[in-house]
Amino acid sequence: MKAVIPGGTGQVGSILHRALTAAGHDVVVLTRQPSRPHEIAWDGRTLGPWAEAVDGSDVVINLAGRSVSCRYTPDNLRAMMDSRVESARVVGEAIAAAARPPQVWLQMSTATVYAHRFDAANDEADGVIGGAEPGVPDYWAYSVQIAQAWEQAQQQATTPDTRKVALRSAMVMSPDRGGVLDVLLRLARLGLGGPVAGGEQYISWIHDVDFVRAVDFLIDREDLAGPVNLAAPEPLPQREFMRTLRDARGIPVGLAATRWMAELGAFALRSDTELLLKSRRVVPGRLLDAGFRFDHPDWPDAAADLTRRVRLR
Ligand SMILES: NC(=O)c1ccc[n+]([C@@H]2O[C@H](COP(=O)([O-])OP(=O)(O)OC[C@H]3O[C@@H](n4cnc5c(N)ncnc54)[C@H](OP(=O)(O)O)[C@@H]3O)[C@@H](O)[C@H]2O)c1
Repeated sequence: MKAVIPGGTGQVGSILHRALTAAGHDVVVLTRQPSRPHEIAWDGRTLGPWAEAVDGSDVVINLAGRSVSCRYTPDNLRAMMDSRVESARVVGEAIAAAARPPQVWLQMSTATVYAHRFDAANDEADGVIGGAEPGVPDYWAYSVQIAQAWEQAQQQATTPDTRKVALRSAMVMSPDRGGVLDVLLRLARLGLGGPVAGGEQYISWIHDVDFVRAVDFLIDREDLAGPVNLAAPEPLPQREFMRTLRDARGIPVGLAATRWMAELGAFALRSDTELLLKSRRVVPGRLLDAGFRFDHPDWPDAAADLTRRVRLR
């Protein structure tokens, strides 16, 4: 299989590149700064010679987008929107122009598209799309708009011979340096792995092995198109999630943090509190209905496996 991964130089791209290459597939990564043999230059906005890599490929997995690990200033929010919508649009143009278009286009989206809620879990059929929750900051609604515009850019592309799937992914947990788990473990080592703002908000997550297996599954299953949640079936409150992670890593103490302490912590990490405070209670309805079985459905088992691999790295 030949796979093209626009934006495949980051955390998720590295996981996929590693797994697809190990399985014997041919992988091309599109990046703004190519430095390795399998990387090709693009700008994420305009068609160029890179589109030749898409023509004749079997699968395109578009991950490009300005990192969400930043302060949510107006400029950064705009860049998060534009980089996602423009890259999805131009990937669609390349597929539309291809003489031999890929069979499937997996477009990254995010579990953040769903509402901040505690009462029930969001699956694809009955989940509530966010943006109208009372008492949450306006820019949380903007994050939802980014996710919706991102998915629309894929939906609006005219690619009749290419199946389109939007990956509404939760946080992908892998032992890689600089990944989400790395940041959480760093917080925990500093004693900050306790409940944040009460810790009732749900964390949705997916183990990297299951993320790769779900991507493989979606490539194979020709009957699946449209939005698909990529999240372990057992999201859990942040206080339990961090306690389990601390136990797995042997870190006994986790200080409770108030909302304003979380603001300070996020400021220090040049990140944003939405990542800590929004309750993302997302479950994989369509994957489970389609018969997908998770290798790591529960967080205690996943956290034990991931921290063991962190020790080995
Ligand atoms: N990590 C997670 O747990 C998670 C969960 C849900 C959704 N997602 C989404 O999945 C995607 C990949 O995640 P990731 O963690 O691997 O992200 P990442 O490490 O930030 O990588 C995203 C890639 O996008 C490219 N990029 C950045 N700004 C760009 C721009 N202005 N125009 C075109 N390309 C740009 C970068 O590639 P170059 O600099 O090489 O061009 C970068 O390597 C992101 O869109 C993220 O929002 C991630």
